[in-house]
Amino acid sequence: MSLANRSLVTIDDLSNGEIEGLFSLADVMAGSLAGQRELCCGKIMASLFFEPSTRTRLSFEAAMIRLGGQVISAVDVGATSLAKGESIADMARVVGSYADIVVIRHPWEGAAKVVADYAGIPVVNAGDGGHEHPTQTLCDLYTIKKERKGIKGLKIALWGDLKYGRTVHSLAYALARFGATVLFHPRRGFEVPEHVFRKLVTEYDGELVRYEALGQALEEGLFPLDAVYMTPSSPHQLAMMPEISAQVELKTGVDALYVTRVQKERQAAAAGGQGGEKRYPVVNKRLLRGKKFQRTLIMHPLPRVDELAFDMDEDPRSMYFKQASQGVPVRMALICLLLGVKEVTVSEESESMLQRKSYPVYERDSGLRCPNATCVSNQETEKRYIKPKFRVVRLKPLTLRCVYCDHELQPRFVASSDWHEGKLESKKYHSADSRWTRDIRPEKLIVFDSEERAKAEGFRPSSYVR
Ligand code: NCD
Repeated sequence: MSLANRSLVTIDDLSNGEIEGLFSLADVMAGSLAGQRELCCGKIMASLFFEPSTRTRLSFEAAMIRLGGQVISAVDVGATSLAKGESIADMARVVGSYADIVVIRHPWEGAAKVVADYAGIPVVNAGDGGHEHPTQTLCDLYTIKKERKGIKGLKIALWGDLKYGRTVHSLAYALARFGATVLFHPRRGFEVPEHVFRKLVTEYDGELVRYEALGQALEEGLFPLDAVYMTPSSPHQLAMMPEISAQVELKTGVDALYVTRVQKERQAAAAGGQGGEKRYPVVNKRLLRGKKFQRTLIMHPLPRVDELAFDMDEDPRSMYFKQASQGVPVRMALICLLLGVKEVTVSEESESMLQRKSYPVYERDSGLRCPNATCVSNQETEKRYIKPKFRVVRLKPLTLRCVYCDHELQPRFVASSDWHEGKLESKKYHSADSRWTRDIRPEKLIVFDSEERAKAEGFRPSSYVR
């Protein structure tokens, strides 16, 4: 199966079967890193890193060079025409005419999607703000698979900054898809965004069990725990007995503990970013003593700051440098697939797991904006051509999800474009929680976030306006 000319913007752009196929190819690459020089000879990769990066950029560039290709790069917005007010779309069109594949890291959420929409060549998201980082997830899954042979049924804890950490968002989605149970242990103030939880539930039919106020677990030196996420394929004791305390759960240990640093740079960028809690346990030998953690893989996307002690580095459970080193063969495999110089073999069974939900798309200009200030669709330079675009993911309550950054909004009023031959007296708007929302055909739906906007467009309130 060919993945030629596809892009990897979110982890959902690859099916489980394609990921498995990519891992088989990564095994081949890892077996002979120096023996692949013919594969991408004559190809050019544009490496655009508008945020700091060591591992991701250098492993992508090393991968391309090992494949015999060449790299052109820009690593500073200030040194590109973006600094002159150029749009990302214009940059993408131009770079698309110079290179064969683009790898982009950018602080705006959804920026990689815009590049993919305009470049005309395969685009890889190397991190878009706090949204996603799908290739880090490939390295993480590859590491887990190597160590534990499979992912299904594993219990994996995500630790640290689960709010701004893009790696954990992509990883949680992938783990859910592969049938793992995910435990979320956020640092207080850095909890998983609601839209990420909702996507886990709506896209992957997962079940979520929440634990509130686990101060006590901290007192006892155990992990703070926010929520446990389960897939239906791995029914979980806690799902059936939610009153059981998290301590019971944690006594059985976890297969992997995925530690992340606090994303200070995003916190500063976010309006009203909190300081977070100071008293949060450092992951060290002491915390991980005891039988229950004997086989726990300690993972981290790196860079580490002070959340993971150096005393873990020689510990056989520590996987973080392995994760980083696997970045080269995994990215070599990805580049080969997207450039079409290699294909994946995908079994029918795993391909049937690619049942992506399809939702009606809402792109009418009715004044709606994505609520996320760092979404690419809200940036001055990009607003000139990007029309806000949403998927209608739920009718009750009416919920729209931004196609760029996955943040959600719940508009308050609805109308239909089917207004009886356009006669003004029947141009009515209704409350989004009235029965009208279900009655309007998706392609006729108009939504407003205020009555003012509805009135400005010539609509009048119906008796279903509250
Ligand atoms: C991560 C990132 O950039 O999101 N680093 C990486 O790519 N390995 C994690 C981080 O910066 O904390």
